[in-house]
Amino acid sequence: MCGIFAYIGPRDSAQVCIDGLKHLEYRGYDSAGLAGILEGKIHSCKEIGKIHSLESTWLQNPHPLKLAIAHTRWATHGKPSRENAHPHLDATHSVAVVHNGIIENHQALRHMLRELGVNFYSDTDSEVIAQLIQHSYEGDLLAAVQKALTYLKGFWAIAVIHKDHPDQIVAAARENPIAIAYSLERQEVFVSSDANALHAPDLDVLFLRNDEIALVMAHRVDIYGDNSLPVTRHAEKLLLENETASKNGFDHFMLKEIFEQPQAIQQAMHNRFIEDFGTAEFEAFPLAPSELQAIKRILILGCGTSWHAGCIAASLFEDIARIPTQAEIASEFRYKNPIISEETLVVAISQSGETLDTIAAVREVRAKGAKVLSICNVRNSTLVRESDACLFLRAGPEISVCSTKAFTSQLTVLALFGLLMARLRHMDKTTGQAFLAEFHDLPDKVAKVLRQQEQIQRLAKKYSQFEHFFFLGRHYMYAACLEGALKLKEISYLNAIGYPAGEMKHGPIALVNPLLATVALCGNARTYEKILSNLMEIKARNGPILALAPEGCQEITSIADDVLWLPPICDELAAIPYAAASQLFAYYIARERGTEIDQPRNLAKSVTVE
Ligand code: F6R
Repeated sequence: MCGIFAYIGPRDSAQVCIDGLKHLEYRGYDSAGLAGILEGKIHSCKEIGKIHSLESTWLQNPHPLKLAIAHTRWATHGKPSRENAHPHLDATHSVAVVHNGIIENHQALRHMLRELGVNFYSDTDSEVIAQLIQHSYEGDLLAAVQKALTYLKGFWAIAVIHKDHPDQIVAAARENPIAIAYSLERQEVFVSSDANALHAPDLDVLFLRNDEIALVMAHRVDIYGDNSLPVTRHAEKLLLENETASKNGFDHFMLKEIFEQPQAIQQAMHNRFIEDFGTAEFEAFPLAPSELQAIKRILILGCGTSWHAGCIAASLFEDIARIPTQAEIASEFRYKNPIISEETLVVAISQSGETLDTIAAVREVRAKGAKVLSICNVRNSTLVRESDACLFLRAGPEISVCSTKAFTSQLTVLALFGLLMARLRHMDKTTGQAFLAEFHDLPDKVAKVLRQQEQIQRLAKKYSQFEHFFFLGRHYMYAACLEGALKLKEISYLNAIGYPAGEMKHGPIALVNPLLATVALCGNARTYEKILSNLMEIKARNGPILALAPEGCQEITSIADDVLWLPPICDELAAIPYAAASQLFAYYIARERGTEIDQPRNLAKSVTVE
């Protein structure tokens, strides 16, 4: 989704910003632009499409800018176009602004400014910010931004420049991240909406909090609170993920990340077992065993794939730790009026740690006094900073918009946490050790699934002719079906519905016909017999069936048209290898259909809007 990068310092600012935008590319965008100041004039350049288009246009007529702001846009208000791309300039070309977020009252503000004779040049909500700042300007850029922000409703991360202040960038944040990283020695400052885009060495970093504004100059950064008073903030050392974004010879990041799963799962488990006690432990974990024992209820929050991981974890926590658990979609939950007792632990799951709905829900529960444990992949993320404790996935950067290795790493970490909670309650040591043995086999079992790549590709070729799919499963496999269906729809644009197999007869079976394929995830031993009956009902209505089933369960061959055999595994962890198989299936269907796999249409990696 939208990304901000800005720079002030001795280097070629435009090029630094273009390079910075390249680190934001993975988030998804449809246009990009930059602006800077030279000799009392704002120079800007914008392009639809990829950053290299912006770069080549800029390089046709470059300017040695000492300061620049830049942006990748993911369209919300107005279609992707040069006019709608950021930076937005005010009508007098004095101010340039890049903005992430949404200005909810932009229509009213437009109307007000038009009445004052201001002309608008784009369809975006963001343009009103530039116009308002210029309208509020009386010689002091910081004061103008402070005043302009008082008119705005919504949320934002912004970086602003003014032609008469060639040594200043003003940045501000509400509910959207802004990281400011600097080197006093080199007299340079970087501003970005994603700290992981900051790839310079030895930087100190500050994160703006809600309603803070920063005045950024090459040699200093001053922060002001919402009362306009200066705020003292100690900088942290910037910890960078040291893996670079390379496809390592794979055709797509998605395929690379699918194949990284055995290693990612290994990483998620590394040093997190206590074999002798049959339990799990987590590094630098601030919650004491007595605090964990006091928890009477768990509430899990997440969106999309992360919510699916939460649904599986909810069943697991209840099954093995006997703790009542509910998994809620964060975007829905934040508009409820939840009852949060002191004994509730909130577990917030997010690969990126920047999903706005999840962060907003976390803020809501923390305001009600809940402790929040986040399960996250990105160390410098907003969610991590706003949680009481975090369990990191250690999956390495996930670049593909379609989440794969993060999901199976989430499931691994959540299952280990479930084990810890169970052992702190009534699970005995021997049962804990038996569960740990299942974890040990997990990377190999996933690798075994991935070795069936060619067979999965053949099945995908056959099933790519269908336009409609049901993914059916029961118990743990039901949420695995939601995830399998999501993978298929997001990268192949096919209609795929994840459904509990036992619910088909209550309505959806009316849809079954020879043109609708069913993918049945039969990896749950406890409900295996039950799903066979459900699939018989599909077969009786001539619905084609591809079953993913444990090796040795031969009964399925008389029902399904095709069977992909998966290694037997306990119910609690079965979603992991079944997810890997579903991911590969979706990947190869998308290839058959020729879709853009790493950057599917309309989707962004980090969803930083409501
Ligand atoms: C699907 C996918 C999304 C994300 C969702 C939450 O493949 O990637 O559904 O899972 O946008 O993102 P995070 O986990 O970063 O909060």
